[in-house]
Amino acid sequence: MSNLATTVCGLRLRHPIMNGSGLLGSTREEMRILSSWNLAAVVTKTITQRPRAMRKPPNIIYLSDVNALVNSLGLPNPGASGVFELVEEAKSCGIPVIVSVGGNSLEEYLKVSSIAEEAGADAVELNLSCPTAKGYGLDLASEYHALGSIVSNVVGLLKIPVIVKLGVSFRQSLISLAGKALEEGARAITLINSIKVVSIDPEKISYSLSSSDMGYSGAPIYYIGLRAVYEVYREFGAEIIGCGGIRRWTDVASYILAGARSVQIVTSLMRARKPREYVEELLDKLKDWLEAKRFSSIEAAVGYIHKI
Ligand SMILES: Cc1cc2nc3c(=O)[nH]c(=O)nc-3n(C[C@H](O)[C@H](O)[C@H](O)COP(=O)(O)O)c2cc1C
Repeated sequence: MSNLATTVCGLRLRHPIMNGSGLLGSTREEMRILSSWNLAAVVTKTITQRPRAMRKPPNIIYLSDVNALVNSLGLPNPGASGVFELVEEAKSCGIPVIVSVGGNSLEEYLKVSSIAEEAGADAVELNLSCPTAKGYGLDLASEYHALGSIVSNVVGLLKIPVIVKLGVSFRQSLISLAGKALEEGARAITLINSIKVVSIDPEKISYSLSSSDMGYSGAPIYYIGLRAVYEVYREFGAEIIGCGGIRRWTDVASYILAGARSVQIVTSLMRARKPREYVEELLDKLKDWLEAKRFSSIEAAVGYIHKI
């Protein structure tokens, strides 16, 4: 029988599917809900040192014709002191937990990362690509050297693995940022974050949401995420967590063939009526595919497209 187990940055996972940061993951109750969906690991909402409030509405639009979201939530989260109960809840359900860490300075990344480790996180994922909060992620890490210094200092401070989450943007070279993150000791790269966009209402002659800092996610970014994984795997053979636009089991399989060792899903899980059943169906179909294609394991299929 095919083996759905996989490892990424030293974490042994029962199967390759996790939630991506941003879907629930800010309160104990939300972590309990995520933990009941049969995910291989759970990822918290991005946590900053101090609590951040949600932007005033309108802050999210669902585009049903294309299965996509535009959001400008602005990184709402309970702040670093909230991390303890988030980690504790996932742990009490026996699920590995990755704390997503945000910041607008090196010091903030260091502080929140060390609190995450102290709380018992299995890994941290540095969100160096947030498009919806000015001064955070995308703005800060657009500088090759700033990204290098954040990654090397956090890696130097922590014992647990450090994952770096990157995105694609008009202003940065993904390959050079990914290369720098790996050079400075990132154990894995998560690709991709939501893509920075702008939505404009021509009737009101204003932005469609309450801020111009908007992230685009869901089905339309699938091929972009897939290409990002493909490029970074081809360039570096890195450990990658694929994310972006996943809806069907075929999307998961394609991410794995492109080079991802595991995947994260946000928009489709937010829209799923029965998230646990949705995850289980993806896993069943993935198992059938591995068997039909005679892959002995997920790991045997990782990056396979590069071998043909
Ligand atoms: C409502 C919403 C909130 C998000 N919040 C975060 C976040 O806090 N940290 C982060 O790294 N990514 C965040 N993301 C980005 C997702 O983790 C993911 O990278 C992106 O949505 C692409 O995956 P998807 O197409 O499956 O949604 C958010 C996405 C959405 C839709």
